[in-house]
Amino acid sequence: MDFKLEVTDAKSKARAGVITTDHGQIETPIFMPVGTAGTVKTVHQRELNEDVKAQIILGNTYHLYLRPGLDVIEAAGGLHKFNGFEKPMLTDSGGYQVYSLKHRRKITEEGVKFQSHIDGSRHNFTPEVVMDIQRTIGADIIMAFDECTPYPCDRKYARESMEMTHRWLKRCCDRFDQTESKYGYSQTLFPIVQGSTYHDLREKSAETIASFGREGNAIGGLSVGEPAEMMYESTDLVCSILPADKPRYLMGVGTPENILECIALGVDMFDCVMPTRNARHGLIYTSEGIINIKNKKWEKDFSPLDPNLGGYVDTAYSKAYVRHLVHSSEALGAQIASIHNLAFYLWLVGEARAHIKAGDFSTWKNLILPKISSRL
Ligand code: GUN
Repeated sequence: MDFKLEVTDAKSKARAGVITTDHGQIETPIFMPVGTAGTVKTVHQRELNEDVKAQIILGNTYHLYLRPGLDVIEAAGGLHKFNGFEKPMLTDSGGYQVYSLKHRRKITEEGVKFQSHIDGSRHNFTPEVVMDIQRTIGADIIMAFDECTPYPCDRKYARESMEMTHRWLKRCCDRFDQTESKYGYSQTLFPIVQGSTYHDLREKSAETIASFGREGNAIGGLSVGEPAEMMYESTDLVCSILPADKPRYLMGVGTPENILECIALGVDMFDCVMPTRNARHGLIYTSEGIINIKNKKWEKDFSPLDPNLGGYVDTAYSKAYVRHLVHSSEALGAQIASIHNLAFYLWLVGEARAHIKAGDFSTWKNLILPKISSRL
């Protein structure tokens, strides 16, 4: 993997760059659609390419390991061959998914023992196992095995958990560096900063993570219920420590507003289930503001979903029609809304990038934020 920093904004810490992987280039800042089980829910790979204009998508180690299982993915020749998405992919390590299991997992220094949410079967994730699994899945960027602390989290737990995440990182790096890609293209490992909302812990974690000298770095443990201001403070602090010549990935963030604010703090990569999950519930992000498409207000509004975006689903279908589909729980409603919301997120980061390069990012951000955050 290679990262070229093209421009740093003069009035903020926003950056534009290009990541190059063996599956192609990613222009940053970028949003990565979440494809938990090897599929971005309700969206075809062709739609991801042509309508959403996705440059990289996410998969989850936890889900893919449980189903379809590693034997199937390996027999297919890796996840790219299995799901037919030939662009870059990133897999999360399971640290976050296993943490979400709450009552079905036990965390020790060795790793995490957990029960499958599908059939209750018992499994054991260690840093070494998780590296081996991600070698078999074959994503271009793979994530270190970490513990994502909840919010609120007492200081003692946050410190001990962070220190364990750092020890796990050493084990992840050792295993990753002793093994090879299985499918003839290269993979890279991103470590994850933790430390909850404690500034001194965040500082320590960012310094430790940076000292490993990997090709990119991630910020975890945020957007777990803390106020947005706290998330921005931690992100700002961590970005000021992580090296400028490597991509920075803020995990699980966020709303369009969160993304623009964190681009301004120096983040390059984002992922979140919000655009797709909200789409399935009828929440549509548009260039004019946020729409709850289920509202009666849209019943006879035959204007296009979002003419300013200009994509196929944005112009081919009216608000009234999409309202009818979502209201009737038709699969096509979830599909159109998901494609649209993802296209909106990709449009937003693409605009941010263009304005960083043009030198007017802050002015543009201040103009567009109130508009896209308003409720229509
Ligand atoms: N996704 C969102 N937050 C996190 C985190 O802290 N760790 C991991 N592994 N994934 C995440």
